[in-house]
Amino acid sequence: MSVTWALPFDQKINPKLNSNRLVSINTYKEIHSQTVKDYKQFWASIASEIDWFKPWEKTLDDSNPPFYKWFVGGELNASYLTVDRHVKSWRKNKVAIIWEGESVDEKGNPKEVRKLTYYDLYREVNRVAYLLKEKYGLKKGDAIAIYLPMIPELPIFMLAAARIGVIFTVVFSGFSADALANRINDAEAKLLVTADGGWRRGKVVDLKGIVDKALEKTPTIKDVIVVRRIGNKVNMVEGRDKYFDEVIKDIPQNVYVEPERMKSEDPLYILYTSGTTGKPKGIVHDIGGYMTLLHATMKWVFDIRDDDIYWCTADIGWVTGHSYIVFGPLMEGATEIMYEGALDYPQPDRWVSIIERYGITILYTSPTAIRSFMKYGDNWVKAHITSTVRLMHSVGEPINPEAWEWLWKLVGREEVPFGSTWWMTETGGILISHLPGLYLVPMKPGTNGPPILGIEPDVVNEDGKQVNPEERGYLVIKNPWPGMPLTIYKDPERYVKVYWSRFPGMFYVGDYAVKDKDGYFWILGRTDEVIKVAGHRLGTYELESALIEHPAVAEAAVIGVPDPVKGEVPYAFVILRQGYTPNAQLSQEILKTVREKVGPIATIDKIFFVGKLPKTRSGKIMRRVVRAVATRAEVGDITTLEDEASVEEIKKALEEFK
Ligand code: WTA
Repeated sequence: MSVTWALPFDQKINPKLNSNRLVSINTYKEIHSQTVKDYKQFWASIASEIDWFKPWEKTLDDSNPPFYKWFVGGELNASYLTVDRHVKSWRKNKVAIIWEGESVDEKGNPKEVRKLTYYDLYREVNRVAYLLKEKYGLKKGDAIAIYLPMIPELPIFMLAAARIGVIFTVVFSGFSADALANRINDAEAKLLVTADGGWRRGKVVDLKGIVDKALEKTPTIKDVIVVRRIGNKVNMVEGRDKYFDEVIKDIPQNVYVEPERMKSEDPLYILYTSGTTGKPKGIVHDIGGYMTLLHATMKWVFDIRDDDIYWCTADIGWVTGHSYIVFGPLMEGATEIMYEGALDYPQPDRWVSIIERYGITILYTSPTAIRSFMKYGDNWVKAHITSTVRLMHSVGEPINPEAWEWLWKLVGREEVPFGSTWWMTETGGILISHLPGLYLVPMKPGTNGPPILGIEPDVVNEDGKQVNPEERGYLVIKNPWPGMPLTIYKDPERYVKVYWSRFPGMFYVGDYAVKDKDGYFWILGRTDEVIKVAGHRLGTYELESALIEHPAVAEAAVIGVPDPVKGEVPYAFVILRQGYTPNAQLSQEILKTVREKVGPIATIDKIFFVGKLPKTRSGKIMRRVVRAVATRAEVGDITTLEDEASVEEIKKALEEFK
């Protein structure tokens, strides 16, 4: 299928600011093709820029594809790279993290700001590593789960675990008890770190209450550490739950825990993510490849330097925060902002006031955030000084040209580099993006830009053959890359099946994409049952399983439909069991069940009651058809449809809703 893709104007980047890096796309392509040809050698040269305890012997072990191993024989430690290294340098007293709490005083100033230097961070990471190792007896290879809001203890626990070789899995604090329990059980986590609550839009999120429910079904958890964030009274289970301040207080400030000598291909963390069907997949990342990719992209994509004030607005609970709040910027010795709350709380200009307060130079945010700011109008932005910003990127979903232009004009003064970095939980770091830290090629609003050096993505048709420029196809990655997954935790077969079977020898991404005549990529959205709600990755399967837990629901199909702010929102089509009649109250009850089962992020936008759902003759729900009807697109091939009347049912339900 081909699409006509209206290519917008070529943007010039202010030559005054960036003249030494401007290159034509053809020059970039030449450089790029060299790095792809010798990609092993190329990545080896990048990896040699980070500190290894022991150099690797083999750059890439590709003897057992797709279980590739990077920098085999090499030893390193991610905690050492992010803290110890800086403490041995002039950066010792440089500010690493400026944390801002959500609450503000009557004048609108933040009530709580914590600044941690690299030395502060180093000491805290060592103390927590000591706590986990000596007091809780955790050993290399054990797993812990972390369910914390955006407070400094979150990166501290991640880095402390990495220091002693303990694998961690962070669960986003917007997930429910069930989601948390499933992840803990899959990872077989022995210890859970949580808080007595979190702040969100001025309200307390009862994390501990959710934890208590989750822990009813998690036999592996022996201990819980509770960080006091709110200071309210929460249920503490004798023998299991301890307050963080109480267990850490006797551990000396200057305790030192030797960082484990980890193998390059040892696991660093597991991060669960939604996929095609079935339960979330535990993506396992290595250390050597992952840290190498982050080092490269922090330099190339973000052009990170010592005088920058860097701000990534994501939550650490998602991969963007893992890579580009915790491991990437800290490895590079950056000064960064970590913000606890909602970007538009208590007023729409909260985010711009943060830019102004700290003089942000590099901004990494999401299309949903930009579109929601746009909605409030320009004046909120104009009231603040944003001229410190010199580089911006967006991530998580396709960016529409309007949103791109709005931010580029208003904050970017029509001169700063501004890209849309494409990557995913599985890739570990950015793979397709402009690289203003290295070379600048002309920008185009809405594009993801060219692939980064050493990476060879492509767009192919059903048969795995490259499509023509401007034609839509499936995005694939043709070579192994540092930062790629080691596997799906405890399910290597699924790893092979999901990513490496559709097109032999290529990594199947699950996104539609177009490559234009210049070789720029335009990622269009998911090909599968994944929906991106405000950039958050949700599986329709998870939502549907939650729906059918309600006693009234017999069957359910969830689809993503376009939304002007959130990118996509979920619609649910539901068949009720006999004896139930559709009404508003029932809708509310069902929606509540979903929120409880999946978490507050899983808010279904609309619920429609139908008598039939389009299915194949073998009984599989054809979400593609539901989606086409709901979005008024071509329904396409329905020869496998069991009952055409089901399409009419969907149409009717949509009409009646209005
Ligand atoms: C989508 C987030 C267009 C894509 C880092 C991918 C994007 C999924 C972009 C991964 C972008 C991410 N432009 N689409 N710049 N960045 N995506 O695992 O569909 O939460 O497959 O990782 O987000 O989502 P994930």
